Amino acid sequence: MPLKPLFEVNTSLCIKCGACAATCPVKIVEFSKGEVPKPVVWAKKVCINCGHCVAVCPKGALSLATMPADACRQIDANITPSWGAVSQLLRSRRSIRVYQDRQVEKSEIEKLIHTARYSPTGHNSQSVSWTVVYERSRVEKLKSLTVDWMRKAYADGAPISKTLGLKGVLMGIDAGNDLILRGAPHIIITHASKDDRMAPSSAIITLAYFELAAKTLGLGTCWAGFMDIAASFYPPIREAMELPEGHASCSSMMLGYPKYQYHRIPTRKAPDINWR
Ligand SMILES: Cc1cc2nc3c(=O)[nH]c(=O)nc-3n(C[C@H](O)[C@H](O)[C@H](O)COP(=O)(O)O)c2cc1C
Repeated sequence: MPLKPLFEVNTSLCIKCGACAATCPVKIVEFSKGEVPKPVVWAKKVCINCGHCVAVCPKGALSLATMPADACRQIDANITPSWGAVSQLLRSRRSIRVYQDRQVEKSEIEKLIHTARYSPTGHNSQSVSWTVVYERSRVEKLKSLTVDWMRKAYADGAPISKTLGLKGVLMGIDAGNDLILRGAPHIIITHASKDDRMAPSSAIITLAYFELAAKTLGLGTCWAGFMDIAASFYPPIREAMELPEGHASCSSMMLGYPKYQYHRIPTRKAPDINWR
């Protein structure tokens, strides 16, 4: 049986506009004015399966073998949020540090992950994996291991201890405050193969998507920076994360229902913009 080409073009729909060729990031769509586009000979070897050729076609004429046009949902212009709505969403997102004593439905978390995974990933690798630390006892374990590492780093006089202000953090913890995971019911950990050099950046972006999307569902989030730093130094935390073999954690986030609502947007420094 002949192998399927990388993509097929429905010639009765194609308007020969060349948008598929122009937007292909790896330039594997051959197009000449007035002709139907076709894949270059080496196309299959270098295609990153980003789907731009399918998504940009105004007529739904192009289908990748891996991604038929019909499998790609049409963009509904009627629900594109306005600048005002986006600006308010981004500015009103807050790091939530006080949570209700209430679990988030697993289906809600899955819904968020299914949307956050549309974030850009280096080379369209989509290689970021998710571990949802759902059970409170496991969240507590991660918190207490982080505190163990903090005490050790402080006692050893490790340079990071000063950078993180561990003396004060430990005083707060000893006074009964959860300054590590803030009483959040769940922790989301992103991770990827240790060898994947682009994964840490991709993971941060995908978690940033996650937290904005979470806000629209009435959920609160906060980056778990202390735990992530501790994990990079302290193997017991990495072991407690129980990540798949060969994976390293990237970034983590607390998740839960906020106890308090915010009513104003705090001011921020003016941006440092340099024009050249
Ligand atoms: C990489 C990173 C790590 C963070 N780690 C923590 C953390 O461990 N604990 C915490 O309470 N907040 C953490 N934060 C939240 C910041 O303190 C917060 O973003 C900042 O104070 C601004 O507040 P806002 O997010 O409400 O705008 C972290 C934020 C980032 C981006």
